[in-house]
Amino acid sequence: MTTDSENQSIGGAGEASPADSMSGTTITIVVDNHVENGLMEEHGLSLWIATGDRTILFDTGQGKALQPNARSLDVDLRKTDTLVLSHGHYDHTGGIAAVLKLATKADVYCHAGVVQPRYSIRDGRARAIHMPRVSMAAVDELSEERLHWIQEPVMLSNTVGITGPVPRETDFEDSGGPFYLDPGGRRVDMIDDDLALWIQTGEGLVVCVGCCHAGLVNTLRYVTALTGGTTIRAVIGGFHLVNADRRRLDETVRALKVIDPAMIVPCHCTGDEATEFLRRELGGRVHPGAAGMTFRF
Ligand SMILES: [Fe+2]
Ligand SMILES: [Fe+2]
Repeated sequence: MTTDSENQSIGGAGEASPADSMSGTTITIVVDNHVENGLMEEHGLSLWIATGDRTILFDTGQGKALQPNARSLDVDLRKTDTLVLSHGHYDHTGGIAAVLKLATKADVYCHAGVVQPRYSIRDGRARAIHMPRVSMAAVDELSEERLHWIQEPVMLSNTVGITGPVPRETDFEDSGGPFYLDPGGRRVDMIDDDLALWIQTGEGLVVCVGCCHAGLVNTLRYVTALTGGTTIRAVIGGFHLVNADRRRLDETVRALKVIDPAMIVPCHCTGDEATEFLRRELGGRVHPGAAGMTFRF
């Protein structure tokens, strides 16, 4: 097992122009809770993926940081050919309208659940955390041909796939928060729309996750099963361990040691404490993510 490989670069915009990748796969973190190089920080996630001849935007953050960060990082959002939404929370979907205005031919892939109302309820107080209305309107305006509702695994190309809903099989993972479909807290939101994207590379799968409301271990096991047991090279995104108890963290680490990804990039809602825990337990393969980082495979 190696924790670093020659064709992996981790660093800021100065090292590589993400859009320049004509072969292989380049992933740039455009929006994240942590940033490098004076980029705009935001509670949200957006990944720019250049793989083969595809340019994919995976989530859009809340919308404020996306365009300024993309400009700073040399990411040309007009070249987005595919927009994938990991799920419908505001911190992943707020930039949809802006992206679709720039990328006027982009296809959009998401689960139909992304547009439903949803709330987080703490101390009896409900907070709306659904997709902003301007984003819902932008999705609604898409033609049938460009909007792809995902209910099961789908291949975007020979090497890029989307999971669709992820089976919840572990007994130590849950959706990660007090999530409901109504402000009164009567209907629990399982966040069924949560999905992940994978890219088949020469060194194994690179898996991109939004918030992992289905659970990180459930997600990685499912991707492995869907691809006939292919090795996982890397996983990048929000692991939503911010509210995880010690048992969940321990079980997650135990499972990750078996799954054995060479690189783990916790971002966004993983939480600083959980990220530190992963780093302590899993060592140099853990690279805490931040906007501005580019990874090559
Ligand atoms: Fe999130
Ligand atoms: Fe989320």
